[in-house]
Amino acid sequence: MTARSAFTRILNVEDARQAARRRLPRGLFEYIDRGCEDEVSILANRRRLDAIALSPAVLVDVARTSTEAELLGKQHPLPIVVAPTAVAGLVWHDGEIALAQAAARSGIPFCVSTQSITSIERIAAEAGADLWFQLYIWKNRRRMLDLLDRAWAAGAETLVLTADTAVGPNREYNLRNGFGIPLKLSWRAALDVALHPRWAATVMLHALATGQVPTYAHYPAEFRTRLGREALSDEISLAKDVTWDDIRLLRQRWPGKLVVKGILRVEDALTASSHGVDAIVVSNHGARNLDCASGPTDVLPRITEAVGDRMEIFADSGVRRGADIARFLALGARGVMIGRATLYGVAMGGSEGAARVLDLLSAELRTTMGMLGARELGSIRRAEPSP
Ligand SMILES: Cc1cc2nc3c(=O)[nH]c(=O)nc-3n(C[C@H](O)[C@H](O)[C@H](O)COP(=O)(O)O)c2cc1C
Repeated sequence: MTARSAFTRILNVEDARQAARRRLPRGLFEYIDRGCEDEVSILANRRRLDAIALSPAVLVDVARTSTEAELLGKQHPLPIVVAPTAVAGLVWHDGEIALAQAAARSGIPFCVSTQSITSIERIAAEAGADLWFQLYIWKNRRRMLDLLDRAWAAGAETLVLTADTAVGPNREYNLRNGFGIPLKLSWRAALDVALHPRWAATVMLHALATGQVPTYAHYPAEFRTRLGREALSDEISLAKDVTWDDIRLLRQRWPGKLVVKGILRVEDALTASSHGVDAIVVSNHGARNLDCASGPTDVLPRITEAVGDRMEIFADSGVRRGADIARFLALGARGVMIGRATLYGVAMGGSEGAARVLDLLSAELRTTMGMLGARELGSIRRAEPSP
């Protein structure tokens, strides 16, 4: 039995989510799965996507459909980018490498988070994926520029600046369940780990056996601490004074493609375009940051109309089915980012688990396109809203 066939009972992203729930300590599962404050927005994202109906064209020969997409000048077999997710390396040992390997197998980009446990250098060496690099701006901009040099040297050609995390989000469940960075030892945390021995065996024992205790791999060496300890310096705390001046600086310094992630206003999309940004991600950060934020589906059509001829537009937040990818594309996105779905997959079974999730989403997208009579992504149409 191949490792991949071990997941034949996982038939959709929700199945992978339940498998992840069983495997991960509760504190860690909630960190990847839940939203913020009253968690209104996480349900709203689902409802907003469900409210978008697509319009089938009938009697079209769909013996051959293509999900090929050109994303930032490169051809990919799917219109998907694996989103940056902090601490994926706690979900599975070397979780970021596992995600990047799954992305490479599907021929799609993997976006490395600033807050990755595995360094971009190791991911590049071991996964062979097309790597993007996501940036959170540190208080000390000089150190941030050093990090950019590292990302470029490691082969990342696309830089994604996350613009929607101006302050730290309010996630009360993390306080209740005791999960947080730095990791804190407590009886509750110890019991949580003890109740999830498969996770403890793959992540904790592996870390102990290899001596690779989890740490934020992109912190400068002199500030790098184990996740169990407080950060050693304020220089690498996330800056709260990030403005369009930083985009100007990044545009001057970054030789590759520049993407701004977390846009929800037409004006901001226009300003990004006037700063020479190559693409934006219309996103509410998977409902993890601002519970009363609008959703990407609310604004995507207007943003596409305003700047779609000048920049590429990506969207994320809430993709759980291939049909959700089709919905975002019908509203004007060229591609989507996927956060939790592939994290559930990697939690369930490393690279093979993440690959299973990508295969399922790809198959669902093809089925949706066949039913819609859409031979290529550009033919997917939204149904006319009822009068
Ligand atoms: C556990 C977790 C960690 C995340 N960490 C980051 C991050 O470090 N940087 C970032 O730009 N976005 C981060 N995100 C947001 C994702 O990039 C993406 O916008 C979001 O997950 C999309 O929604 P979805 O999970 O419903 O697909 C994170 C999301 C999750 C679930």
